[in-house]
Formats: sequence, structure tokens, C-alpha cells
Amino acid sequence: MSVAIIQGASGGQALALTSHILRNTGMKVYALTHGKGSGIQDHLGDLAKGDRLTVINGVDLKEERGLEDAARMVKEREGKAAVRLVACFAGILTAEKSLSAIDPATVLSQFQVNTIGHLLTYKHFVPLLPTKKEWRDVSAQWKDGGDPAKGLVGAENSLCWSMSARVGSISGNEKGGWYSYRASKAALNQVIRSLDHELVNKSSSGVAVAYHPGTVLTSFSKAVVGQNAKPDPEHGRFGVEEALEKMTRLMGKVERDGEGTGSWGGGFYDWKGERVEW
Ligand SMILES: NC(=O)c1ccc[n+]([C@@H]2O[C@H](COP(=O)([O-])OP(=O)(O)OC[C@H]3O[C@@H](n4cnc5c(N)ncnc54)[C@H](OP(=O)(O)O)[C@@H]3O)[C@@H](O)[C@H]2O)c1
Repeated sequence: MSVAIIQGASGGQALALTSHILRNTGMKVYALTHGKGSGIQDHLGDLAKGDRLTVINGVDLKEERGLEDAARMVKEREGKAAVRLVACFAGILTAEKSLSAIDPATVLSQFQVNTIGHLLTYKHFVPLLPTKKEWRDVSAQWKDGGDPAKGLVGAENSLCWSMSARVGSISGNEKGGWYSYRASKAALNQVIRSLDHELVNKSSSGVAVAYHPGTVLTSFSKAVVGQNAKPDPEHGRFGVEEALEKMTRLMGKVERDGEGTGSWGGGFYDWKGERVEW
């Protein structure tokens, strides 16, 4: 059985992905949340029943311990090479307009969740991704069409997926503002790039991606676009389901050495499937 680790799991986009995995694949999900987790069970209803979903509460990314304990639990229950997808969704935003609004505690908080929290998640879960050799052994046991990921993850690889944001692109910064969020996402992009090198160097089956989903109407974006904002796909603003469809389509296309073949390697991509400049 392949396993998906969903971090920041009670968020709008993470819940949508968890639901999608339980509905459309044969993968198990470990949903990591810093809250009590009851919202996840309530939202998923019947999908939360059975043994494919495990919710792990109290995983506050500001403390390493919760991630360490969660990874130990997954390893004990699923084995060393069972993880196919590590998807990091946690993110917080304080949108400063100018230097006068900078508060060191808020800046630190965003780095702890948006950057270091993703880095620590990979520290503890990347060792549970199969190496290329382990991958060949595991996948050889699947019969035709037997990949539990059912196309959510490419047939030849596993995936490390971080929700980034276009505002984290340094070369794309044409307006300024949002100092701490931009900087935390730029630093996250650097983490993803280093991680992708390490995955190659260690012959891991994993590929690392930073992703910009557009503006997605969750509680996260409502503080910026307003409570009553409506989807406007032409301008990159989506409801959760449409955003999920775009994200999952891209997830399935990512593969190592895919450059120039119409597929995608590790990197920074947006909802159109286009590369974003770092
Ligand atoms: N919505 C957008 O327009 C948009 C645009 C660009 C990028 N993004 C990125 O997409 C990601 C998901 O956003 P979303 O729209 O789904 O927002 P969301 O509903 O607010 O989800 C964000 C999640 O972050 C987690 N989190 C916050 N503080 C945490 C902490 N201390 N420890 C662990 N987890 C913490 C929470 O999950 P738990 O309570 O379960 O831990 C929260 O539900 C974020 O990284 C965001 O930066 C969003």
C-alpha cells in the first residue's frame, strides 16, 4: 500500500486533496494537523471511516517533536519505503505593506510555518520514500493498472510537494510589500531546490516541486480578496475544487528527467503547469 503524508491537513486545499485521494486512489493518508483533527473527520464524513485515513493531531510545525513522532508511527505501521507522496500545505500570511508594519515575532512565525515547517517535514519523511531500487522491487509486485496512486503521482516516481506562492519568486517581484510572506516562500523555494538535488544524489524515487495554485478561495485568501470574492478563472482565482483539479493534473505529470518530453521534473510551477522563475 502506498502512503500519502498530508501536512497542514485541516486547510481548505489540503482537505480537498485528502478527500480526492480517499475517493480516487488506493493510497492510505496520514493527515498531520496542529489542531484537534475533528474538523478533518467531520468534513470527510464516510470517507474518514475505515483504515485508510489516520489523523495525527497536535503536529505543530513550530516544534520538531510532533513530526518526529508522526514519522516514527508511519514507519512502524507501514514500513521503511511506503511513502509515495509528502504534500506540505501549511502556510500563514501577514501582508505587511511597508517596513513600518514589520513585527519580528510575526516574521519569525511565518518562517517557522512556511519554510522551516516544510523543511522539517522533509527531514523526517523523505527517509520513508523508496529509493529507486526499492521502487523497482515494490512496483514489480503490482499487476497491470495496480499502482495504488492511480495516476495521482507519476508511475515511475514518488513526490515531495510544497505549496509555495508566486510572490516568493524573487525575479517576479515587481511590486514589493508582503516582506515576510514573500521571503518565507522564497526561502521555501530554495529548500525545494536543494531537496531536489539531494533526492537525485541519494538515488531516491522522489521529485521535489514548489507549486503556486493561483488565488484559491479558502479562509487563507479571504483576508486578502474579501469574504464574498467569487471565482474568476480567467484571472487565476479559483474555487477549491477547480484548484484541486489543476493541482492533481500537474502532480501526475511530474517525473524525473521529464524536461523536453512534455513532462515535468523538479522545480517551481504554477496552476497552468508553467515554470515560475525562482
Ligand atoms: N489560498 C490561496 O490563495 C493561496 C495562494 C498561494 C499559495 N497558497 C498556499 O497554499 C497553502 C494552503 O493554503 P490554503 O489556501 O489551503 O489555506 P488554509 O486553509 O488557511 O490552510 C493553511 C493550513 O496551514 C496549517 N498551519 C497553520 N499554522 C500551522 C502550524 N503552526 N503548524 C502546523 N500547521 C499549521 C493549518 O493546518 P492545520 O491546522 O491542519 O495544522 C492551516 O489549515 C499555504 O501554504 C498557502 O501559503 C495559498
